[in-house]
Amino acid sequence: MFANSKRPIRWGMVGGGRGSQIGTIHRNAALRDSVFELVAGAFDINPERGRAFGADLRLDPDRVYPDYKTMLEAESARSDGIEAVSVATPNNTHHEITKLALEHGIHVVCEKPLCFTVREAEELQSLSRSKNLVVGVTYGYAGHQLIEQARAMVRNGDLGEIRVVNLAFAHGFHSDAVEEKNPATKWRVDPEFAGPSYVLGDVGTHPLYLAEAILPHMKIKRLMCVRQSFVKSRAPLEDNAITLMEYDNGAIANVWSSAINAGSMHGQKVRIVGSKASIEWWDEQPNQLRYEVQGESVRILERGMGYLYPEALVDDRIGGGHPEGLFEAWANLYRRFAFKMTGDHGLAPDGIEDLIFPDVDAGLEGVRWVENCVRSADAGGVWVDYWKT
Ligand code: NAI
Repeated sequence: MFANSKRPIRWGMVGGGRGSQIGTIHRNAALRDSVFELVAGAFDINPERGRAFGADLRLDPDRVYPDYKTMLEAESARSDGIEAVSVATPNNTHHEITKLALEHGIHVVCEKPLCFTVREAEELQSLSRSKNLVVGVTYGYAGHQLIEQARAMVRNGDLGEIRVVNLAFAHGFHSDAVEEKNPATKWRVDPEFAGPSYVLGDVGTHPLYLAEAILPHMKIKRLMCVRQSFVKSRAPLEDNAITLMEYDNGAIANVWSSAINAGSMHGQKVRIVGSKASIEWWDEQPNQLRYEVQGESVRILERGMGYLYPEALVDDRIGGGHPEGLFEAWANLYRRFAFKMTGDHGLAPDGIEDLIFPDVDAGLEGVRWVENCVRSADAGGVWVDYWKT
């Protein structure tokens, strides 16, 4: 269990206004452990709606801004201005907002995808390094405690040599053209707002990051991807894609990214097959990790139990039995972002050296993966060298 910070980080939001899908998750996560304090926002593309929403959140009306440029300008001029900002807007705005925030000396937590091209992501990476500012990226599932368990099991050799990695994030919510009636879905299938892909960036990058977190020693060597628009009006963006990947240690992986997996709620699964045993995690039951040793009966490892590795227990709030969920997973990441932003050791668990969080490098890798998948798919589904974009 962790202690707490000396004082909360002054925090603002861009986007995430009333009715948005992800805004409430950011607020629940950042505010959960009193590590951040929401003091400012430009919450909505519509300034009036944004102002009304800021009032509902009980913010000082002077610090609810009509747009993010005004907010970053005004807040960076105040002695008590925001120190960190979260970006929860449609994809096409992430790069410019993140860049401007960094230029104003403000840490950023940005939604995925970080931006559209590797070149843009490298620019943000170098800006964050030169300014010594954090860019966190909300691959929120990585905050589930059993992901730390999976990472520790691989590192300690419990699975043996890693051979096969099965990744999927395949839900069914967009099995038909729901975007015709839903503005939050409409921008997701428009390349101007969504970028070069739909499901690859929207869902596929989540399990990709989980694999990066669990298998940090393995690097992708080459990949092959095919993508389809089963709802034809979505073309050129895909609503389904299958990617094959080879790693530098000889392991093979597949990633199923989909919004048309009819009947599936989320369908985000990570299965890692080693020479001795396999593990499997499913985001709809995040408190359990299947551990299957060849020749033995299946074990279900439960969150919060003493038999887990210490890394999987440091974020425990309520012990085993009571289920935790997405808000807690995101709060675990927000606390790590805060630790990195402040260096405040009250936020870090004692004696654990190897805790990670999705940072600007992870954001860049997600963008690189999408760029490679699109390059392969648009060339007819051919193998592409991962590092030659
Ligand atoms: P949404 O369409 O539901 O909400 C977007 C919000 O941003 C709205 O409040 C809108 O008024 C506001 N907005 C748009 N442009 C703005 C601007 N220039 N300045 C200020 N506010 C602006 O979108 P949703 O689903 O919440 O997605 C937002 C981002 O979060 C996307 O990049 C998406 O990929 C990501 N996302 C991430 C998830 C995750 O698990 N990490 C899950 C869902 C979405």
